[in-house]
Amino acid sequence: MADKPNDTVQSLIRAVRNRIEIEIGFGMNDLPLFEKPERADQPSGAASPEDRLEALAKVEAKAMACTKCPLHETRTNVVFGVGDRNADLMFIGEAPGRDEDAQGEPFVGRAGQLLTKIIEAIDMKREEVYIGNILKCRPPNNRNPLPMEMVMCMPYLRQQIQLIQPKIIVALGGTAVQGLLKTTDGITKLRGTFVDFEGVRLMPTFHPAYLLRNPAGKRKVWEDMQQVRDTLKDMQKEK
Ligand code: URA
Repeated sequence: MADKPNDTVQSLIRAVRNRIEIEIGFGMNDLPLFEKPERADQPSGAASPEDRLEALAKVEAKAMACTKCPLHETRTNVVFGVGDRNADLMFIGEAPGRDEDAQGEPFVGRAGQLLTKIIEAIDMKREEVYIGNILKCRPPNNRNPLPMEMVMCMPYLRQQIQLIQPKIIVALGGTAVQGLLKTTDGITKLRGTFVDFEGVRLMPTFHPAYLLRNPAGKRKVWEDMQQVRDTLKDMQKEK
């Protein structure tokens, strides 16, 4: 029990904040407290590649100056994304780690080196795909992203996807999948089957950092990536 009036107020605030974070986690993010997701300046489907690149540069500039959540206080760099801005294949991870925060580029540490190998295993180069994260700033000590941080950061990712227009997204790990799909199902259940993300095919698979700890999972990721490679080839033929 709280013993001072001030403690009571503090614990009430904590309880309300927890409740809000849980609701946000389940996708109920239209509370007036939060900014609505921003839309790209124009419908991206109709925009020319040049217009899309220009719009993406504007989104990047906004993200670089972002102070919407407390992570801006502890970041070294905003890690917006890297790769071909017209890529057919996009990889989405969780959040920058120490190396990414230091260099301003996603997936450059050990997990990143494994991701590069995974990309090369389907006969593509890292520069041919686009790589981003749910969060653009590193959570202190690499803790899991908070629901509130994901809600604040998702508009950037949503606009990246709208403007890059990938044919396939690979979501790496449970946090990426849960952030994108608003599901509470785990990655072990979801991986290996394409699902829809706002009109784009999305393949959930294990995170490379998980594979570093559990190399036996590599076989499953290889199966998932073979599906990605074959489906992408079919979609590119249809063009
Ligand atoms: N893990 C991620 O999810 N993203 C990165 O950029 C690096 C490690």
